[in-house]
Amino acid sequence: MNYQEAVNFIKEKVGTTIPETAIVLGSGLGVLKEEIQNKIILKYEGIPGFPISTVEGHAGELIVGELSNRKIIAMNGRFHYYEGYDVKQTVFPIRVFSLLGVKNIILTNAAGGINLNYKPGDFMVVNDHLSFFAESVLRGKNEDEFGVRFPDMTEVYDKEEIKKIKAIIEKCSGVAREGVYAYMKGPCFETPAEIRALRTLGADAVGMSTVPEAIVAKHSGMKVVAVSCITNMAAGVIDNKLSHEEVKETADRVKDQFKEIIKEYLEQ
Ligand code: HPA
Repeated sequence: MNYQEAVNFIKEKVGTTIPETAIVLGSGLGVLKEEIQNKIILKYEGIPGFPISTVEGHAGELIVGELSNRKIIAMNGRFHYYEGYDVKQTVFPIRVFSLLGVKNIILTNAAGGINLNYKPGDFMVVNDHLSFFAESVLRGKNEDEFGVRFPDMTEVYDKEEIKKIKAIIEKCSGVAREGVYAYMKGPCFETPAEIRALRTLGADAVGMSTVPEAIVAKHSGMKVVAVSCITNMAAGVIDNKLSHEEVKETADRVKDQFKEIIKEYLEQ
């Protein structure tokens, strides 16, 4: 894939200082945009090689600016496999970030709660994931400029950073969850049987994003942190049908907490 054209385009637009920290804003979490100072906004459709976001409620722009006095580059809207892209296309921006020199990435998402102790509105720090039932984002010829053929996945999510952000979540929202995120390809929500199976396998939350990005970021040596907003209980956990409306409503309800968490985390 032609990453270099996108890299050159972004450098040209934002000047030479490229942030070391990237943030991917999940469903309903784009509100962080308002907090970013001195921002330069680049619409995805104008960036060479970038796919175009297709989900309603998901924007499609790259924002470079400052948050908590730190330079950041944020994706407002991400690419999902269920939209029809090849999985490699969904992580195109993450590889571009790597070539731009980004060292840390904060991935956020909306997720369904599988763990019976969780409640909608909780925040969960991801400490590991399950994705062996989905096609690997690293399938195909290895791109050696990013990383090795068989990358270690023992610690995808940085242990020290998990501790730090967990303490902030506890402070900002009262309770901090930490657990395993199961990646499902979507776009259907899961069935109750699938959720029971995922629970047996050790999953605490389920969603349709983040893991391909985390794998690619880890592959290229970035420090990865991921936070899930539990927007609903997963299928069959409670007597309730699932909808994207519920996901958006819950994300909207806790958006201010979410903003505080990310801002405080960046301050540290
Ligand atoms: N399942 C999958 N993805 C999700 C869910 C869910 O219950 N909630 C938000 N994203």
